[in-house]
Amino acid sequence: MTISLRDTRSADQYARALTYLPGGVNSPVRAMRAIGRDPLFVERGRGAELFDVDNNSYVDWVCSWGPLICGHAHPQIVAAVTAAAERGTSFGAPTSGEVDLAEEVSRRVPGVQMLRMTSSGTEASMSVIRLARAATGRTKILKFAGAYHGHVDGLLADAGSGLATQGIPASPGVPQEVAASTIVVPWNDHEALVAATAEHELAAILAEPLPANMGLVPAAAGFLELLRARADETGALLVFDEVISGFRVAPGGAQELFEITPDLTVMGKVIGGGLPAAAYGGPRELMERIAPAGDVYQAGTLSGNPLAVAAGLTTLALLDGEQPYANLAATTTALAEGLADAARSAGLQDHVQIAAQTGLLTVFFSAAPVTDYAAAQACDHDAYAAWCRGLLARGVYVPASQYEAWFPSLAHTPEHVERTISAAAAAFAEIEP
Ligand SMILES: Cc1ncc(COP(=O)(O)O)c(C=O)c1O
Repeated sequence: MTISLRDTRSADQYARALTYLPGGVNSPVRAMRAIGRDPLFVERGRGAELFDVDNNSYVDWVCSWGPLICGHAHPQIVAAVTAAAERGTSFGAPTSGEVDLAEEVSRRVPGVQMLRMTSSGTEASMSVIRLARAATGRTKILKFAGAYHGHVDGLLADAGSGLATQGIPASPGVPQEVAASTIVVPWNDHEALVAATAEHELAAILAEPLPANMGLVPAAAGFLELLRARADETGALLVFDEVISGFRVAPGGAQELFEITPDLTVMGKVIGGGLPAAAYGGPRELMERIAPAGDVYQAGTLSGNPLAVAAGLTTLALLDGEQPYANLAATTTALAEGLADAARSAGLQDHVQIAAQTGLLTVFFSAAPVTDYAAAQACDHDAYAAWCRGLLARGVYVPASQYEAWFPSLAHTPEHVERTISAAAAAFAEIEP
């Protein structure tokens, strides 16, 4: 079923967009196809609220899929970006802000002594793999089913049949031989990980330490420790993709929270404060393999862009100290508990699971907790879609896919949480258990 938003400005814009943009969008999930409706077109955002071109307002739990940990158009971030723009939007030459940002990141993230900035998380993932291959002299990498690290050819690999197999292309256009260099293992599967790391000489074990691209599916007890141990035992580098978890679940990301330090770290989203920026980093001896310090080539016209750096630096400053994280944790907990109560009141306690971690949350329509990609795939996606449409109709904007996380921010107030819970209760009541 597709709900068309006939006679709205969003519908007009979408019709026009379909003429010029594939699927009417610049990134697939925005099209809202997974929940069977047309996309809404955004006019503006303020704090935790979003306004569409028809002047409907929404409590926004997507927050641009993660970068907006301080909410939309935060006055300090806008002022910093404006001031930077007045000095010039790009120089292609070093600026001291880039060094400030690297220093701030290094102060927070245990595994990052030095970093290289890029413009997107995809670019950072692509580059970190090149570095891992150069440093180990090996080709194969291991990733987990259901993890997303950007649309790099070698990372758009799906599991073949059987456990821990060589990957197969997850999209037409990805060469078979490129996908075959990626070993895909089920998340939280100790046995499969041990088998794959014994069988294949790996350059890197690449993981989201707090996976949030199959919905939020934390590691089982001991699994992150196992990743660290298997990397050390086999000579592979452990790479944590903290594009989502970085600066969000703790100042130093999931690696600080779970006390497991990777060899290399991929960062994005929050680091750019809502402008295009990402980075990869690690200890000096590895990072100095990157050109021009070393021989591993990687470059970017807009890398370390002064506007993005200004937004990132201001965002990190707004996250300084313990209070912001305590607030984020309190918002997330209130939201998770309220949603669980609402599901219970609708008689859905055996059909809904809520996973939450500071600044991240997923509502799964599943009878049991979701621990891997197969379980995420087995969720009742139709029920999620119906519930999501119900929330949107009541002015609450949540991810238009069961495979994405919600992003609570510092701009969300108890009143936003309340509004969300009452809309959620009404939308749950429309779902057949
Ligand atoms: C964990 C993770 N890594 C990498 C990426 C890719 O980042 P980008 O969209 O900036 O290319 C994403 C994007 O959502 C992500 O969630």
